[in-house]
Amino acid sequence: MKIGKIIAGAILAAGVVTTVSAADGATIFKRCIVCHGKSAEKVPPGGSIVSATLSAEEIKESLRLYKTDKSHGGKMKVSMQAQMKTLSEEDIDAVADYIFTNFHIAK
Ligand code: HEC
Repeated sequence: MKIGKIIAGAILAAGVVTTVSAADGATIFKRCIVCHGKSAEKVPPGGSIVSATLSAEEIKESLRLYKTDKSHGGKMKVSMQAQMKTLSEEDIDAVADYIFTNFHIAK
């Protein structure tokens, strides 16, 4: 079954490439759980909004602003500015889509 092995190998290789190159929302979200809860259902310490009630676009916009605009946010904005330093544009989209798809709570 040489052909079978080659095909299996090709599928495995493709799988590895995908996980390495694409930003993984589930993995990124693990960093947010300590403050936002495991389903983004908590008001973060010192914050006022439950992230799960926001749309994917609202989460993306908020994260981009924490990253680029020092005046954006409330009294605890520094916590989020620190978090955003290590997230790329691609990571922001991935984690926002992950939160919205899995945990959204209708307002
Ligand atoms: C150290 C605790 C902490 C961590 C870790 C953290 N956040 Fe936050 N987050 C906060 C606080 C506090 C606020 C409110 C900040 C303010 O006053 O503007 C906030 C605000 C936000 C907001 C704006 C709306 C809202 O829900 O208040 C979003 C969206 C958000 N965080 C997403 C994330 C995501 C996504 C991650 C993981 C990549 C993350 N946060 C990690 C503490 C944290």
